[in-house]
Amino acid sequence: MRYRMTAARNIIRGLAVIATLAIGVAAISAPAVAKTATKPATAAPAATGLPYQQAVDNAYAKFKNLQEGKNADYIPALAKVDPNIFGIALITVDGKVYSTGDLTSEVSIQSISKVFTMALVMEEQSPDAIFNNMGVDATGQPFNSIVAVEQYKGSEMNAMVNPGAITATSMVSGASRDEIWNKLIGWYSDFAGRPLSVNQEVFKSESETNQRNQAIAMLMYAYGHIKDKPLQACDIYTEQCSASVNAKDLAEMAATLANGGKNPITGKQCMKSENVPKVLAVMATAGLYDDSGKWLFATGLPGKSGVGGGIIAVSPGKFGIAVVSPPLDAAGNSVKAQKAIAEISNALGGNPYAVKPR
Ligand code: DON
Repeated sequence: MRYRMTAARNIIRGLAVIATLAIGVAAISAPAVAKTATKPATAAPAATGLPYQQAVDNAYAKFKNLQEGKNADYIPALAKVDPNIFGIALITVDGKVYSTGDLTSEVSIQSISKVFTMALVMEEQSPDAIFNNMGVDATGQPFNSIVAVEQYKGSEMNAMVNPGAITATSMVSGASRDEIWNKLIGWYSDFAGRPLSVNQEVFKSESETNQRNQAIAMLMYAYGHIKDKPLQACDIYTEQCSASVNAKDLAEMAATLANGGKNPITGKQCMKSENVPKVLAVMATAGLYDDSGKWLFATGLPGKSGVGGGIIAVSPGKFGIAVVSPPLDAAGNSVKAQKAIAEISNALGGNPYAVKPR
């Protein structure tokens, strides 16, 4: 009897040790960023027929006083940005602009730039160049995960997370750093409909603290995805992330994607229309990182976030929308932007999967 009780106790102790070890291993391999998701606003019925401006105004009023999230601070300059900036802009494919809130304050574009650098590589080479070099699959990991690189030696990932994005930047052609940079900022500017410039304070701040991205660039070089000058690629990537934009700039960039690559305000065909679905597919898969599934579930829209506080989303053939609000959730996505875009798009029937049966 005593033996059986001791044996039982030992079995229980053994199970407890295994459980403790399992929790320990999970903690060690857990991503650097904790996973507490922002729940985007629940879907309103599609196509209520609400006028665009009213949908924008309603969302602004609904979320204006929301006090959730926190500015990114791993790039010190971002912690100093006013967390109360809140601007919304929606631009339809026929060039009408609906906006409210703070439309003049600029934030750094950050990861939203990844979409347009990837688009440039598709334009210069082909969508397959992206597909073959870093892949188009979700990693399920934070945007700066090194574990995600190690898993498939830099393959089977995408150009929205840092390793794939720095690699995409390395693929932009040019005889010198200046030539590459001028091409990139000119390309972004065409989508935004005005000449963009760089926030030098953010560029300096991130350059002084981007050792992790330098390590990622070197790893992608070691695995053969970056062919040359990995640290130059990281430096240009850092500068591209520091491009300064307001909500209207971002909405125009999104609206250009919604309109088959043609800027609906300037009329310029910025990229080949046949590449746009490839860009949108990668955004849908990984635009909000490890929360991309939740985002797609709430909105059905290809989107892209940046740690500067911007999010863009594209309703193909209908509109592009952008919200700027710096406080982020744990996955690195603006809290107010997620909620406001979901609210507006769902009120306007923006979800391309929401189809009325015939
Ligand atoms: O590389 C970085 O960490 C930043 N320049 C960009 C990260 C970012 O915007 C992630 N977005 N949500």
